[in-house]
Amino acid sequence: MSRPPEAAGDGSSPFPPEVFRRRRERVRKELDGGALLLPGADVLHRSRDTQFPFRPDSELFYLTGCAEPRVVALLRDAHEEEGLTLFVPRRDPETELWSGPRLGPEEARERFAAEASYPLDELEERLPDLLKPASRIFFRLGAHPRVEPLVIRALAHARGRGARKGEGPRSVWDPGTILDELRLRKEPEEVERIRRAAGITVEAFREAMGAAGPGEGEWAVEAALEAGFRRRGARGPAFPTIVGSGPNACVLHYEDNARRMEEGDLVLLDGGAEVGLYAGDVTRTFPVAGGFDTAQRAVYEVVREAHEAALAAVRPGATTAQVHRAAVQALTRGLVDLEVLSGDVDALVEEQAYKPFFPHQTSHWLGLDVHDVGDYAVAGTARVLEPGMVLTVEPGLYFRSSSVDGSPDSSASPAALPDSPGPFRGIGVRLEDDVLVTKSGAENLTAALPVDAEEMVELVGVAPGEGSLRTEAW
Ligand code: GLY
Ligand code: MN
Ligand code: MN
Repeated sequence: MSRPPEAAGDGSSPFPPEVFRRRRERVRKELDGGALLLPGADVLHRSRDTQFPFRPDSELFYLTGCAEPRVVALLRDAHEEEGLTLFVPRRDPETELWSGPRLGPEEARERFAAEASYPLDELEERLPDLLKPASRIFFRLGAHPRVEPLVIRALAHARGRGARKGEGPRSVWDPGTILDELRLRKEPEEVERIRRAAGITVEAFREAMGAAGPGEGEWAVEAALEAGFRRRGARGPAFPTIVGSGPNACVLHYEDNARRMEEGDLVLLDGGAEVGLYAGDVTRTFPVAGGFDTAQRAVYEVVREAHEAALAAVRPGATTAQVHRAAVQALTRGLVDLEVLSGDVDALVEEQAYKPFFPHQTSHWLGLDVHDVGDYAVAGTARVLEPGMVLTVEPGLYFRSSSVDGSPDSSASPAALPDSPGPFRGIGVRLEDDVLVTKSGAENLTAALPVDAEEMVELVGVAPGEGSLRTEAW
């Protein structure tokens, strides 16, 4: 049978079935007469007859533990005897010959403690009856092209019937209104999983940093990082690894990793392991060899201070806006010291003068998804941090040059991106850690990886186990 995602050899223990049952009971209480219809992920087509590696749907996994493709879960409210109904593709020897064993409806029902299960091909026929008693449907519109027409039909049916009987679903709500709030507060089992992802990420970073060197490809650092993830049993990267050397460090989501590093470059490495479906997310910026030059070191220290100030602001009762404020305050002060900005620091913060150099937020939630679910403001007010929430802290400064890819063709630069001040042009620095809010403050889950400039330089000097092969880019 297909393995649960926990069986990947990453050292994390599987979640016991009670974890999923407990979550479902909480959701069922909140459905308030409604029904939640949750289609899982499909296998995605890559090219011709090739598919992307399957990645289970986070919400389906969160509620059921199911990591199979194309499963549809229906969860009905606490008054219904059949709480969880699963629709599962039938077993098929021909498909299983190529893709390996699948669960099928019967075994899925047992494995995931569902009250009922049916073949997926019966969904259309059964759905109207199953949804009949529901006052509303929790379903994400626009996200599930195969299932959405069935929901629309069930609603149309209910509209006619409802007019006669005065019952049935009349509205569609986003499942996130319930699930996001639950996923935002991590349970102890989830914290352990994220801790494991963070730990593997840190260990692999040490190896990857040693793979950098003048003349080496950015891809060699990417390969070392992801090999480090896989060797430790992680599923792989939780998001595309960013290895931005030289001016590429200023491209926030640079994923090409196709440039050869040069003497004197900084390298921005942003990556995270996915362990049992939970993500780590770390960034370090370091010199490709030797040390920082004066301008690089000055920028680095500003970001390091902002990182420290933002980390210190994470505690229960604080808000993500306050964490961001601590970062931008320190970054703005630093930009004034660097003579990039001039004026009163508070006034500059107020007018967001730092934005051309720090265009992103300081934090995002971290969990089953790298940019995990959960609103950052509630009813127009910044979200208050609570124990069990996990967020990144990732201030940065980016001094874009007009030729980001290092080519001399400055006409490629969009007019909206002006050149940065001379001494810092082309420098990009970000530092990112993963932080758990605790009862008494915060725990930096990735603190084992240094941010101190000297310690970073030492890490780069350590060659990775295999030695670094010089390879050609495609
Ligand atoms: N790697 C994406 C991020 O740090 O948010
Ligand atoms: Mn991040
Ligand atoms: Mn990141």
